Amino acid sequence: MFQNTSIQFELLKKRAFNLRWAAVPEGVIPLTAADPDFPSAPEIAEAISGFAKEKYYCYVAPEGMTDFKESIAHYFQTKRHVPVSPALAFPVNSAAHGIYLTCKAFLNPGDEAIIFDPVDFLFRYSIEAVNAKAVSFAIPAGIANVNFEELETLITPRTKMICLCNPLNPTGKVFTKAELTQLAKIVSQHGLLILSDEIWSDIVFEPAVFTSMASIDEAIRQQTITITGFSKSYGLAGLRIGAVIAHNQKHFQMLMDASLHYSTIHGVSVLSQVAATTALNQCDYWLKGFVNHLTNMKNLLVNELNTIPGFKCIAPEGCYVAFTDIQQTNLTSQALYERLLNEAKVAVVPGLKQWFGEGAEGHIRMSFATSEVVLREAMQRIKREVKG
Ligand SMILES: Cc1ncc(COP(=O)(O)O)c(C=O)c1O
Repeated sequence: MFQNTSIQFELLKKRAFNLRWAAVPEGVIPLTAADPDFPSAPEIAEAISGFAKEKYYCYVAPEGMTDFKESIAHYFQTKRHVPVSPALAFPVNSAAHGIYLTCKAFLNPGDEAIIFDPVDFLFRYSIEAVNAKAVSFAIPAGIANVNFEELETLITPRTKMICLCNPLNPTGKVFTKAELTQLAKIVSQHGLLILSDEIWSDIVFEPAVFTSMASIDEAIRQQTITITGFSKSYGLAGLRIGAVIAHNQKHFQMLMDASLHYSTIHGVSVLSQVAATTALNQCDYWLKGFVNHLTNMKNLLVNELNTIPGFKCIAPEGCYVAFTDIQQTNLTSQALYERLLNEAKVAVVPGLKQWFGEGAEGHIRMSFATSEVVLREAMQRIKREVKG
């Protein structure tokens, strides 16, 4: 399933945008956006075509199809130890949209929300899109423990929300239960809301263990909005499907109002909901194989990166991205990105503020959701270029 021969490069060159195969010059290997090179599980295509063949694509319930809601609730109950009610879980057009909706529902103009730095750009832009302010909390650009006492000093009367990305893109950190418990205490003491983006929670490498924020205790659950998606675990990015989970009726209503699903939009594409439901119910075996493959690719990539002069890569505990410290090369991340793109013909993501915050400078990010053949070739090219 995860061999080089499984990858249809010609299709990717037509379809894979967002800095990837269809968006880079011919001959360039894009280890850029975190989107797998592999085709998704066959059960998903069968379910979509089975539904499509019935030739009815009616409006469905604006709060989501029953099967989807029950499947996502079951996933959280059984795999994340969170007592989710199907009634309070609903599909959205991507995790990114779920993040925006949560900001729209709970932040007023002038409010502040704390985001970790480095972290994926979606939090900052969603907060700013509702005219609130993103306040950066600097954390180590690796997997070291986070000191939440420093986060507490950033809380002001305007602070409404803390945005948690766990596992954390781009560093690959998986927060321990002890860290989350400490964070939960701060959130409770200050009466804040926590937006917990758990889209990466299926991609965790042993011995790291993922803990869902809402599993800590009932009190923190009541102050948490959980978001997940299907782009990372199942390769469904183009279907734009994710889920938002409220843990009480009041939050659910606020999120639904912000979504406009009841008033105008009337929910999410049925085919995307069918695909996601199938992923949850029938594709565990595929995900397991994918994580096995990714574990091997992570080991290979991290070992290779650490042989390159000036590169230092701490193995990620989760996410299929390697975040490499390149400060010893004496190049900025943008300069190294340009050199790798133009000379080595490998595209990476530079650690620019626009992608991951100020704390990402001096780093580059590479996705390893590809085949061993592609990864080895990319590494050979980079080594040749950097070793000169
Ligand atoms: C942390 C995080 N959240 C959300 C997303 C976006 O997911 P989706 O494709 O469902 O919008 C990504 C994609 O890279 C991500 O890394």
